[in-house]
Amino acid sequence: MEDKSVTKPFHDRITLAITGASGAQYGLRLLECLVAANCQILVMISKAARVVIATETDEQLPGTAKEQELYLSQRFNAASGQVRVFGREQWMAPVASGSGAPSKMVVCPCSTSTLSAIAVGASNNLIERAADVALKERRQLILVPREAPYSEIHLEHMLKLTRMGSVMIPASPGFYNRPESIEDMIDFVVARILNQLQIEQQLLPRWGEDSLS
Ligand SMILES: Cc1cc2nc3c(=O)[nH]c(=O)nc-3n(C[C@H](O)[C@H](O)[C@H](O)COP(=O)(O)O)c2cc1C
Repeated sequence: MEDKSVTKPFHDRITLAITGASGAQYGLRLLECLVAANCQILVMISKAARVVIATETDEQLPGTAKEQELYLSQRFNAASGQVRVFGREQWMAPVASGSGAPSKMVVCPCSTSTLSAIAVGASNNLIERAADVALKERRQLILVPREAPYSEIHLEHMLKLTRMGSVMIPASPGFYNRPESIEDMIDFVVARILNQLQIEQQLLPRWGEDSLS
């Protein structure tokens, strides 16, 4: 295991919100990959996401942001200060203002509830506020929605946000790479997100590349 006690300057800063759509594994795997890529990650986890994480994975996230920060830092062997977790009403967090927020934000997975709140600029909790900041500052905002089927409301929200410059990466893995495990399918989606973030990834070859060397 790599010794993270010597802190290197972080390669990038990313805001990651994990909300209560199915597919908690995508968000956790993305966090793991961002830690491995030496990014600093400002994390927010909705209450519903905690329920989904407990339902879909073997992880039992503690309740407070500070406890979650410790848990996730240990879980992914992060350097000191690399993973920071903020609570739903922590309005003094860097992500709450254009002057402090990272230039890239991902909501993964993105519930239709949070999708709608972002589309109307609700800003009723820190996740919604951080997305609102990303939109008003014209920064990168990637959403990973999951629902089946989608209603007209969901599709309208996605179209509206796409027209504003956000990117929708549906939580729908492809099969042309012949996945052999659930992990392969998760990595398919996570690789797409990392490509959008312009963070080098070894999870999936880019189209036209036979394999990763
Ligand atoms: C196990 C489980 C799976 C869920 N799956 C989805 C889903 O795939 N998509 C979705 O939009 N909501 C899903 N929900 C419902 C959301 O969690 C719920 O609408 C919640 O209010 C979202 O809150 P949040 O956006 O603050 O995370 C699921 C809930 C549970 C408990």
